[in-house]
Amino acid sequence: MIKTFYITTPIYYVNDVPHIGHAYTTIAADVLARYHRQWGHDVFFLTGLDEHGQKVQQAAQKAVMDPKAYCDRLAPQFQTLWKRLNISNNAFIRTTDPKHKAYVQKTLKALYDKELIYRADYTGWYCTFDERFWTEKDVVNGLCPDCKRPVERLSESNYFFRMSQYQDRLVTYIQDHQDFIQPQSRSNEVLGFLQKPLEDLSISRPKSRLSWGIDLPFDSNYVTYVWFDALVNYISALEYLTPKPSFDKYWTTRSTEAATDRTVLHLVGKDILTTHAVYWSTMLMALEIPLPTTIFAHGWWTVEGDKMSKSRGNAMDPNVVVDEFGVDAFRYFLLREVPFGQDGDFSRDAMIGRINSELANDLGNLLNRNLTMIERFAQGTVPKPQKPSAHSQVDNLLEHTANQLLTVVEIHIKNLEFNRALEAIWSLVQLGNQYIDKSAPWTLAKKPNDKPRLNTVLYNAAETLRFLCLAFYPFMPQSAQEMARQLGLTSDLSNPNPDELNWGYLKAGTKIAKGAPLFPRIETTKTQGDAGVTQDQQPAPSPTDQITIDEFRKVSLRVGLVIAAERVPKSTKLLKLQVDIGTERRQVVAGIGTKYAPEDLVGKRVVVVANL
Ligand code: MSP
Repeated sequence: MIKTFYITTPIYYVNDVPHIGHAYTTIAADVLARYHRQWGHDVFFLTGLDEHGQKVQQAAQKAVMDPKAYCDRLAPQFQTLWKRLNISNNAFIRTTDPKHKAYVQKTLKALYDKELIYRADYTGWYCTFDERFWTEKDVVNGLCPDCKRPVERLSESNYFFRMSQYQDRLVTYIQDHQDFIQPQSRSNEVLGFLQKPLEDLSISRPKSRLSWGIDLPFDSNYVTYVWFDALVNYISALEYLTPKPSFDKYWTTRSTEAATDRTVLHLVGKDILTTHAVYWSTMLMALEIPLPTTIFAHGWWTVEGDKMSKSRGNAMDPNVVVDEFGVDAFRYFLLREVPFGQDGDFSRDAMIGRINSELANDLGNLLNRNLTMIERFAQGTVPKPQKPSAHSQVDNLLEHTANQLLTVVEIHIKNLEFNRALEAIWSLVQLGNQYIDKSAPWTLAKKPNDKPRLNTVLYNAAETLRFLCLAFYPFMPQSAQEMARQLGLTSDLSNPNPDELNWGYLKAGTKIAKGAPLFPRIETTKTQGDAGVTQDQQPAPSPTDQITIDEFRKVSLRVGLVIAAERVPKSTKLLKLQVDIGTERRQVVAGIGTKYAPEDLVGKRVVVVANL
């Protein structure tokens, strides 16, 4: 039975400049979508834009533009970014789509006809920024509890959805469905929120105050509250978008046998959990539609320790990161750096650290050395391994770990533990490198008698890489496919055939096609190993910065001969030199590693300040 997965991201405010926080949810959703498609499941992956509300109206007014034209101008910034990030969404919804608007109106009408929407006068504290009312007890010192901006006292007649009516049902539902709100700590948070009486939800805004929205079908003096409009996108999309996804096929149904075959997964940031877990769930209850399988609230990214915001000017643009580091390194970093439910900090240093040590060193090295050795010792074709009976313990361990990998990854992906899936993949990368180190093919290559063993080692390392391509594909689709190409494989990683899941699928005789390194090391002036030295370095004095003769007399200059030179581990800049200065041998650490190779320095004479 083919399983279906309906995966959604939030719909992003069209007037936000996309930053790494937005990219995070969408990349995570993409990994899930690619993963499930890879294993033959039917996936519908939705993302899109939230285009109504006060902030858009105000921004359009400021730009002296019609709001719809303003949205049309802004929408491509998200759409083109998704393309750059290789996001494989099936559809892209915009809440200004006429069919979405009609669907929202149909929904409102259905609830109104059931008397689940009523009109009432209301006085409360209104936050213009968040576009919502707060009660007396919510407001802290006259400020919005959410965005901390001043709120204003507002009396208004509005339409309300009878949300309070569903409070007990929702509490029971959350308690009975452990997988509904994840991670577990967030589920407890929502239950905590639901301990206070739940109020009815104002779902309208008078046009006198806000006109940019969807007209209420039963009162044209009002438009729909932006959150009601936005949340409905998850089901309106299934009704009208192309390719036509079909509500019956993708939406969950808890109550029938089909339930286990359909998963509806909303990925959201922790800041919008209440709107999803409470507003959306009760709206669905009122509409008599089963609730999604899981609402997963992920953590929040800061940048170099600070909260990202437009006003601070530190809203990290994913385009800039991709320009510098490449799309797959960016995708990898976001999902590897922090557990999906937790907060994380984005810093260039952390990213460079992971690229250099994990992508360039561990993975790049495994691929590169394996292909180089196949070129040198096997004329560029994958050699034939010995029979399994001749295999040693290290061979068996490698084969066993590779065979287990996809099962382990499956468990972690099911729990949305992307970082743990990547850790498991990394264990195989490291095992592959250790396997080569222990087997030392370069030594085996020296004796013709060791040829069969050499062939086995080269084959096993290449077969390990083939498994890695499959496991990496959802995370780093481009690089995984390129890695497969270099291994001489023609298979499509997005749609492997069942034989490809078995160890031994790689055919002896496959011609490899070694290419450029997949993840070149990022050279920086300051890497971890250099930090202590470069931080203290003063700029070199210019020839016009004169010193006195007395200062000069203090300097003991010696000509020395470089006897040995090597790189300082983990440093790009530092070289460790053994220098004979006549009276003694000195060890000197010099920051010249980017200018000189150690082997070029041996035998050279250098000037040493011997009393520094
Ligand atoms: N339009 C609403 C969502 C409606 S869904 C029916 C909205 N849009 S948003 O553009 O402000 O935020 C979209 C998503 O980006 C949210 O899930 C939010 O958590 C996420 N992020 C925004 N900033 C973020 C970080 N700094 N870090 C991680 N995710 C963040 O809310």
